[in-house]
Amino acid sequence: MKLLLLLVLMGTATAKVQDLSGKMFTFPQPTNSAHVRMSLANHCYQAVTVCHRSVTDLKRFHALFSVSTPSHDNSFVVFWSGGAQDVQTTVKTTAIGYGGCDYKSNKWHSICTTWDSVTGLGQMWFDGVPSIRKFIRSGEAITGQAIVILGQEQDKHGGGFDINQSFVGMMSDVHMWDYILSPCEIQNYMENLHFTPGNVLNWNALDFDISGHVLIENKTVVCQLKNI
Ligand SMILES: *[C@@H]1O[C@H](CO)[C@@H](O)[C@H](O)[C@H]1NC(C)=O
Ligand SMILES: *[C@@H]1O[C@H](CO)[C@@H](O)[C@H](O)[C@H]1NC(C)=O
Repeated sequence: MKLLLLLVLMGTATAKVQDLSGKMFTFPQPTNSAHVRMSLANHCYQAVTVCHRSVTDLKRFHALFSVSTPSHDNSFVVFWSGGAQDVQTTVKTTAIGYGGCDYKSNKWHSICTTWDSVTGLGQMWFDGVPSIRKFIRSGEAITGQAIVILGQEQDKHGGGFDINQSFVGMMSDVHMWDYILSPCEIQNYMENLHFTPGNVLNWNALDFDISGHVLIENKTVVCQLKNI
């Protein structure tokens, strides 16, 4: 009985569904361990849309959003390729890049990425501008227990982190949908207007676990200048 009570208390202590509106995750240093982890309940995604905002000064490879399943470490990954100098998407074993992103250091970038398993088409919206629609791969949905990691890139299901692929900077407004968001909704996300929050991951009600040195901080401190 005592043990059961303890387990219940521990359960409530670690279950952390939080409204992170106005907040950001700060990843202050490169490590091969610090990360935010979210386990997804559904086991099959025919289509995905993932949106996030981030800022960094990294020039090297870094993962922005890493989804693994037991069969594929890189089920769905959004990352900056230092070699190709562009933001890329991997679905399972296929990676493609979307050229022309002005990925400036120390500037917040809003990125939404979509992929549909039926057509196989992917698209990326970067700071409000949609890329061309590109074929990545088609025919199979993302299936199996999915683990989403922020701050690290998974080379194993839920682990296999590499310090040289870690994210250093701040990240906010992370949402994931199991369908392709309409261009209007994506535009609304980009411009911080009203949009339908993610039905898979919702920044306003996020169930996550932090490991290592990751902080939750207020996103903006607006300095009100006095009119003279
Ligand atoms: C990370 O990169 C540095 C610099 O290139 C290198 O010296 C180091 O061995 C790399 N670490 C790992 C774990 O790959
Ligand atoms: C963060 O924002 C909240 C709500 O606006 C405010 O109450 C709190 O004092 C802020 N914290 C810091 C450290 O600025």
